[in-house]
Amino acid sequence: MFRQASRPLLLGAALTAALKAALVAIATAAGAAEPGHYGYGRPATPAEIAGWNIDVRGDDGAGLPPGSGSVAKGTEVFAEQCAACHGTFGEGEGRFPKLAGGAGSLKDDRPELTVGSYWPFAPTLWDYINRAMPMQAPRSLSADDVYALTAYILNLNDIVPGEFVADRDSLPKVRMPNRDSFTWTDPRPDTMAKPCMSACANPADVRISSTAEGRDLTPRTTGPLDTMQPK
Ligand code: HEC
Repeated sequence: MFRQASRPLLLGAALTAALKAALVAIATAAGAAEPGHYGYGRPATPAEIAGWNIDVRGDDGAGLPPGSGSVAKGTEVFAEQCAACHGTFGEGEGRFPKLAGGAGSLKDDRPELTVGSYWPFAPTLWDYINRAMPMQAPRSLSADDVYALTAYILNLNDIVPGEFVADRDSLPKVRMPNRDSFTWTDPRPDTMAKPCMSACANPADVRISSTAEGRDLTPRTTGPLDTMQPK
């Protein structure tokens, strides 16, 4: 701990000088480097990029790796790795989320959002398990085990039969029950406007022609709804 106020101040000045020297060194190195680069670092290797580039697209499964897994195999892996939190049949232990059930409950007062009742795409289940589960050790599962767990959870939700084998071809073909209840167009007026790049309208002539009112975009809590009317 510093007792006197002057010591940290002095230290601060010394640090600033050291920092300046370092910055000059970096600037000098940068001057000598290829244009457009900063003179340090190196291109990421394909292996490093592969470690980060793990996303799998929901609707067509782009990015799913080779491998496969059956419902039967998934039953075993789930019992070992997942059941402690999610329950043997995906019913959820304690406050951990349910992974199955809730079919047809989305319009109820207490909707039950699960993979089966809510999620639109099966490949997203593979992606989620692969990147985030088991919660205490994410990224620890093999591709085959993730396929098997995906098959098992789909089967728990009665979406695929017991003999189903999940792989990069079969998963995108699975039709999730809630698939068509999502809307994929953004209804906000400003997202539909075409950007103008040349010969645009005179700003003085611009008028508000549409508002967000009545589009159910902002839940009404208290106070008046923003009607986007000019002040
Ligand atoms: C230590 C407890 C724990 C373990 C073990 C665990 N999970 Fe989870 N899981 C969670 C929690 C907590 C969430 C919610 C995370 C969130 O919403 O951010 C979750 C969420 C999920 C979801 C998303 C549910 C939804 O509808 O949003 C899936 C799917 C899932 N886990 C699958 C698995 C699988 C498969 C395993 C085994 C490999 C596993 N989990 C192991 C705690 C766990």
